[in-house]
Amino acid sequence: MKFDTPATTNPIDKGQVVGKPTDRIDGPLKTTGTAPYAYERHDVARNVAYGYIVGAGIGKGRIALLDDTAARKAPGVLAIVTAKNAGELGKGNFNTAKLLGGPEIDHYHQAIAIVVAETFEQARAAANLIRVDYTRGKGRFDLAAAKESAPAPTPKQDPKPDTSVGDFEGAFASAPVKLDATYTTPDQSHMMMEPHATIAAWEGDKLTVWTSNQMINWSRGDLAKTLGVPKENVRLDSPYIGGGFGGKLFIRSDVLLAALGARAAKRPVKVALQRPLMANNTTHRPATIQRIRIGANRDGKITAIGHESWNGDLPGGQPEVAVQQTRLFYAGENRMTRMRLAELDLPEGNAMRAPGEAPGLMALEIAMDEMAEKLDMDPVQFRIVNDTQVDPENPTRPFSQRNFVECLRKGADRFGWSRRASKPGTVRDGRWLVGMGVAGAFRNNLLQPSAARVRLDPRGIVTVETDMTDIGTGSYTIVGQTAAEMMGVPLDRVVVKLGDSDFPISCGSGGQWGGNNSTAGVFAACVKLREAIATKLGFDPAQVEFVDEQVRSGSRRVALADAAKDGEIVAEDRIEYGDLDKQYQQSTFGAHFAEVGVDRITGEMRVRRMLAVCSAGRILNPKAARSQVIGAMTMGVGAALMEELAVDKRFGFFVNHDLASYEVPVHADIPHQEVIFLDETDPISSPMKAKGVGELGICGVGAAVANAIYNATGARVRDYPITLDKLFAKLTLPA
Ligand code: MOS
Repeated sequence: MKFDTPATTNPIDKGQVVGKPTDRIDGPLKTTGTAPYAYERHDVARNVAYGYIVGAGIGKGRIALLDDTAARKAPGVLAIVTAKNAGELGKGNFNTAKLLGGPEIDHYHQAIAIVVAETFEQARAAANLIRVDYTRGKGRFDLAAAKESAPAPTPKQDPKPDTSVGDFEGAFASAPVKLDATYTTPDQSHMMMEPHATIAAWEGDKLTVWTSNQMINWSRGDLAKTLGVPKENVRLDSPYIGGGFGGKLFIRSDVLLAALGARAAKRPVKVALQRPLMANNTTHRPATIQRIRIGANRDGKITAIGHESWNGDLPGGQPEVAVQQTRLFYAGENRMTRMRLAELDLPEGNAMRAPGEAPGLMALEIAMDEMAEKLDMDPVQFRIVNDTQVDPENPTRPFSQRNFVECLRKGADRFGWSRRASKPGTVRDGRWLVGMGVAGAFRNNLLQPSAARVRLDPRGIVTVETDMTDIGTGSYTIVGQTAAEMMGVPLDRVVVKLGDSDFPISCGSGGQWGGNNSTAGVFAACVKLREAIATKLGFDPAQVEFVDEQVRSGSRRVALADAAKDGEIVAEDRIEYGDLDKQYQQSTFGAHFAEVGVDRITGEMRVRRMLAVCSAGRILNPKAARSQVIGAMTMGVGAALMEELAVDKRFGFFVNHDLASYEVPVHADIPHQEVIFLDETDPISSPMKAKGVGELGICGVGAAVANAIYNATGARVRDYPITLDKLFAKLTLPA
């Protein structure tokens, strides 16, 4: 189905099931611990051996000697694979560094070997017997030091690193009120609960991997390419995923090394990437340095807005597009954005929840707060004054829908924003200094083709098959709701099967595009199934209704199951998009509000209340969407106050590479959270009229917390995370 004209009305989707707050259909499996994650697929293969990955002990250089003689003789060892005996390996489209390093080492904890043994303990013990000597090379590990000479990304790395409209420099120089400030965000780790894990089994030259992956088709292609086998010979299966956040968009070393280990050992092999390897072996959100300049007239209208961002990555990597939202979020005639990308020899930087906007808004939305103060304007009002309904870099192009102002107004009203003191450091609650902060949220809505197959069986059960993934987001449920809605059956008459590369290729889970596009693909397939059923039953497909497990037209009613009584009816289709995302800028919007308390003696920072108001098209399942947003808000508090991979700039690695030392918020850190979704539909986004929401929820949260801390204390910290040392350096405690 091609979706290339706006959906105005949609009589076959009555909102009976879609749009209702619905419990997750996989909820019982999750809450009873019986959803089988990759490492727990005990029934998929027999005689499984265990793999243990060895990570490089240097950040940059060469292996001078790798001696596995003792390891090979250790009890239970079946095979050891290193770059020496792995055979020729290719590199996938989505991997920057090799997944199996050696003799050259590109980054710390790059995998250099897998040991396969009868038991996990034997594999681990043998891995510790491998002796590796290195020749350390000269690595580049310091973003601040590399910043000045960082070049523009190549067109392949980013097609649009710089944008310019009007005369930014001139307008900024002559602006009556201006701000020029630099902000930094740290390297962050996805730290999802389920580690990267894989069981691999070969049958002749055919490989199956049971793994944990967000993008089945990308990863199937990359695994085939890396192994040098035809894509058809590779199957990926990933029905349950214990979190991804972008860290499982691509195959990582567990997948490749399980496959290589299984080939060498001639046995199925299971591998879970050890937790202490994850931060350095896999990808992370790269640190940024961001300079923001805003010039405005005294009435608060922005006349000049500039955003420059620097980050680093391994050679061949990509820039973190932290300037993304600044191209689109606020009005202003004179504009510039610029990205520079330093080569660093730290582990690979890549997508983490809302790549681009998440760190970009952490900077931009503090800058907006600082600018509002300079203008002596309320920060909510300052944002409202600078709203735009068109793409400000290309004013003939409207937003498909943009209710940002309503998010701000509704949020301010609900949160009691009028009680905020504009002068910082003036509100007390016992020993606590109390402040409120606001930030805008923005995240693009991306369109991706997505296919699905639906079956109607003689019992009247509708089964959906698509390689869409559920990374904890609720995909199973919204896919099921869509099929139930379209086929006129209750949700418990729908079976949803996801994550298998044997199924039609979906959009996958990434960039908050999963919800809208995967359901649109199911919509398309159900339209076909409806036609097939109507024809089979002798109805005019254009006249027919599917309601209450019946097919109806006029006074004639037939039980839906009857259509399949001589055998299953199957239909498959794919949603494709025309140029609606070129004609219109499709984005999602929100406003985050936070109240914090800062202990005036100890400096302890506690978030006391949070509110998000989201403008994100039709909300397919308000319960699942709320869970997405409160999870994202929680992650935003982590970004504001805790999360940081500490870089050892001498040896080039992330020091705090486990869950004990990489701090994330726990339950006690998170206060009351409220989420409001504006009641809206976006007819430009897809036949479902939905948009993404799972990443919008994190966008701006960090800045709302930072702005609240400023409002509470008068201490403006521009370097995340806002830890005590940074706060104290700026804090003038009252006597
Ligand atoms: Mo998202 S960072 O594209 O999983």
